[in-house]
Formats: sequence, structure tokens, C-alpha cells
Amino acid sequence: SLLSSTDSLPPPRVSFLLYSTDRPLVHFSLPGVQNTSTLLLSDDGSTLYVGAKDAILSLDVSRSDVISLKKKVDWRPTEKETEDCSRKGMDQTVDCPNFVHVLQLLNSSHLYACGSYAFNPQQVFID
Ligand SMILES: *[C@@H]1O[C@H](CO)[C@@H](O)[C@H](O)[C@H]1NC(C)=O
Ligand SMILES: *[C@@H]1O[C@H](CO)[C@@H](O)[C@H](O)[C@H]1NC(C)=O
Repeated sequence: SLLSSTDSLPPPRVSFLLYSTDRPLVHFSLPGVQNTSTLLLSDDGSTLYVGAKDAILSLDVSRSDVISLKKKVDWRPTEKETEDCSRKGMDQTVDCPNFVHVLQLLNSSHLYACGSYAFNPQQVFID
């Protein structure tokens, strides 16, 4: 349950009842991590990468009963970049963080990510 409901999303491909025994719902949250809107599952299905506000997480989802944090990579604009962003008329807290919108598996060692980065989109390869 990483996503908050959004009316514009298409209907889910799979649905199941809350608290059903064959599809248990496991909740994961991390203090300070918001806008977890980009999700990417590893090919083997054991790791879920999450693009969030100013951060990218990798979660161990190999167990059906618990989700655990493997790694959190902070990726945020510097103070100067944030100031430059708000000087252009953007709202510092709404527009100027780095919202990670794209996550792709690049190869066996690297992940490709794009973020809005203080209204100046950036891309990175993450080891
Ligand atoms: C980030 O999350 C906040 C709180 O849920 C929401 O109001 C805001 O629109 C989100 N921003 C983006 C860029 O998704
Ligand atoms: C994956 O791609 C990155 C970025 O191009 C590169 O630095 C790295 O060596 C590549 N790794 C492998 C295993 O090919």
C-alpha cells in the first residue's frame, strides 16, 4: 500500500479483498519519505525500487509477511539550486524538491533514474 488513491489512475489489473488470507496486505512506510509515486519491481520479483521525493528506496519484498528497507539513496537539490528554483517563481516546498518520476533497470549493476530536480530535470545512474 505505497500509493495513495488517485482518481486518474486506470482500474487495477488485479484486485483482492482487504484482509483476505490468500493475499495478505503488508504495509511499509518510512518517516520523512513522501510522494512514493514511482515503483519498479526487479526481474526476480524480490526487490521493489521506489522513487519518492528527494529519495530512492530499495525494498526487500521477497517475503510475503514483511517488507524491509534494503537501501535509501538521498537525491535532493542543493540549497542553492532550491533557491534558484524559488527565485523563478516556484514554490519552494511544492515545486522545488526532486520528485523521482522515472526508474528503469539499466543493467545488472545500475538503475537509471530521472527526477524533476528543483524544476530542472536531471538523470542519474545509480550503482
Ligand atoms: C506530494 O505529496 C503531497 C502530499 O500527499 C501532495 O500534496 C503533492 O501534490 C505531491 N507532489 C507531487 C509532485 O506529486
Ligand atoms: C551498467 O551501466 C553503467 C552506466 O553506463 C556502467 O557504468 C556500468 O559499468 C554498467 N555495468 C555493467 C555490469 O555492465
